[in-house]
Amino acid sequence: MRTLVSETIQQIGREVILQGWIQSRRDHGKIMFLDLRDRSGIVQMVATKGLGDAPAESVVEVVGLVKKRPENLVNPKIPTGMIEVEVKKLTIVSRAQPLPFPIDTDGYEIEEEIRAKYRYLDIRRPRITRNLRMRSRTVAFIREYLLARDFVEVETPILTKTTPEGARDFIVPSRLQKGKFYALPQSPQQYKQLLMVAGLERYFQIARCFRDEDPRRDRAYGEFTQLDVEMSFVTQEDILRLAEELFTKLVQELFPDKHLSASPWPRLTHKVAREKYGTDKPDLRMDKKDPDELAFAWIIDYPLFTEQSEEDFYHGSGRAKFAPSHHMFTAPHPDDIPFLDTDPTKVRGLQHDMVLNGFEVGGGSIRIHQAEIQEKVFDLIGFTGEQKVQFEHMLTAFTYGVPPHGGIAPGIDRLLMAILGEPNVREVMAFPASASGTTSVMDAPSSASGYQLRELGIVVVGKRKSKTDKFSKGS
Ligand code: AMO
Repeated sequence: MRTLVSETIQQIGREVILQGWIQSRRDHGKIMFLDLRDRSGIVQMVATKGLGDAPAESVVEVVGLVKKRPENLVNPKIPTGMIEVEVKKLTIVSRAQPLPFPIDTDGYEIEEEIRAKYRYLDIRRPRITRNLRMRSRTVAFIREYLLARDFVEVETPILTKTTPEGARDFIVPSRLQKGKFYALPQSPQQYKQLLMVAGLERYFQIARCFRDEDPRRDRAYGEFTQLDVEMSFVTQEDILRLAEELFTKLVQELFPDKHLSASPWPRLTHKVAREKYGTDKPDLRMDKKDPDELAFAWIIDYPLFTEQSEEDFYHGSGRAKFAPSHHMFTAPHPDDIPFLDTDPTKVRGLQHDMVLNGFEVGGGSIRIHQAEIQEKVFDLIGFTGEQKVQFEHMLTAFTYGVPPHGGIAPGIDRLLMAILGEPNVREVMAFPASASGTTSVMDAPSSASGYQLRELGIVVVGKRKSKTDKFSKGS
């Protein structure tokens, strides 16, 4: 039976079977020192020459005797440092080629493209392994926390209709209805509101969102993950309190080395944040050099609309004067509703943004639940009749008894990036796409076969030549 590396310290004097990777080898003439790694840690093994002949990163099975190390050879840096394993038999299960890059460093120095190509090796790096483990624990904590508070976890469709959040949609051609397309959701926004009409009252989802927009250090290209939350019969205060308590407890429990700059979290109006800090996502850390300080804050009282000039809001039609600050389902402040007709720039929205160390890590709002106000907002953002039809299901749903509702969606990737102090969201994602939109390891997007295209009724008229932005004529 297999013994885990971490269990070896309870096995002194016994023979064990270990399975894992050869992390490193040190040749000392007649004997070799080998470090064996499995998911639970590393342990030092000693082998006589000939027995320990496995290249680094090979997968091996070892039969060995666990021995207490003499006092002067104890290594206090690793949990198994007081023992070593004397190798009796070593079988190479899978021999490893030399790796394309070192994995015993933090890896920031290695070119991202090569890290992405061999991401499965890059993940062996302790920093990335730890990030993925902390991500798993974070999601587990959130799930447990919300389920204990009467929330229902619901999966919503990925092949769907456009749900705009201000980015470009990814579209997927339909084979059964040639010439038509699904859009991948930029967020589950409409579904979660429909689930409120459905009467669930408290919904959450660890939701994948898809947005075709330029990546930045805090913005993944293509897809990312939100904790998507929606609640009925709540005020903005209820939403802020839930999220604040959840993330305060999460940090205390999972990241005990970190400390919050302030509790309760400061709340700033959008106006004050802009005037005082020149940004709506201020970094409120007392000491910006302290990697363990977490400064959460709420930003509220956003204007409902931002004014926009020539540029079109939802790519491709109409000339709207206003664009929603958050999204078009955000409710106006009840006191400001008359301004919708007179001066829309004066209308405050019931929007809330969650900020951490200068990053917007979450956003949400109280929603419009009155069809006539929703229509008014559609008009103000310049929706054409055709665009309104795309959202008619929402207006229809609102005619069948809709509870007042609201929610929030913290981004899991961005939140973890900020908590862990990583320089880029890609460092907390298992298989991130590169800045040029190519996926790790598998190198998507790729061409479709002629057969696939014919079945979909698609003719490709321009073809991207390379990862750069140039179009080439042909095919
Ligand atoms: P919003 O568009 O503000 O709101 O997104 C919420 C949070 O999602 C994260 N996020 C991203 N993370 C990584 N890469 C990206 N490209 C990316 N884009 C967004 C951020 C952001 O704060 N439906 C609304 C929420 C609601 O109203 O309830 C929404 O999606 O952390």
